[in-house]
Amino acid sequence: MDINLKIPRHIAFIMDGNGRWAKLKGKPRNYGHLKGADRVEEIVTSCFEMGVECVSLYAFSTENWQRPKEEVDKILSILEKFLKKYYKTLLKNQIRLVVSGDITKLPISLQTLMTETIEKLSMFKKRTLNIAFNYGGRQEIIQAVNKILKSGKTEILEEDFNAYLYTKDLCDIDLMVRTSGEQRTSNFFPWQLVYAELYFTDVLWPDFDAEELKKAILWYTGRDRRFGKV
Ligand code: FPP
Repeated sequence: MDINLKIPRHIAFIMDGNGRWAKLKGKPRNYGHLKGADRVEEIVTSCFEMGVECVSLYAFSTENWQRPKEEVDKILSILEKFLKKYYKTLLKNQIRLVVSGDITKLPISLQTLMTETIEKLSMFKKRTLNIAFNYGGRQEIIQAVNKILKSGKTEILEEDFNAYLYTKDLCDIDLMVRTSGEQRTSNFFPWQLVYAELYFTDVLWPDFDAEELKKAILWYTGRDRRFGKV
């Protein structure tokens, strides 16, 4: 039986479990991140093929700086390689790039690569890959409040607050997927997640393939989203 899938406009992923996956294989944690990055390509491509408009990824949180320097450096270099390699796919499929987070704390070469890639894809409006990097939800809200205060405003409407967030022209998140069995949202887009359906799976991120994505979409298809109405 073929079910009509309901495709979320915006899917967000907390890509958790790279370290545990590597440990289970007797490999160093960084090997898990490498395999995790391979899945990023597969999953992002599948999402856009299904008709999703926006894909958000939690690639590095403001708390992740507390990891060993070697691991932090590896994640930064994986992201750099990913951006260089995946650029062609983004261009071909007319997908723009948004980076959510404070990128001023990143190495200059990575900042430059990010801003140049964002610029080169900025003409595309329909589809967006949003990478949360050095991102924290509370930090995002506080920087928004500070911008508002600096502008001299003393009051603001809920619908106008969006304009001060990293995700300013993206729609709210419809489906959030977190891998590896943890059931938390961990400071990930708290403003944008308020009406999202939350899907948790025990599968570790490097094992989260297109089949697993389909399961998440099937689960989402069965959800009844009422947005506070009856
Ligand atoms: C969480 O697993 C994963 C991260 C903190 C890093 C995610 C980064 C990537 C998948 C690669 C770079 C990103 C892109 C967009 C190409 P964990 O290390 O916390 O796993 P554990 O909980 O098992 O230790």
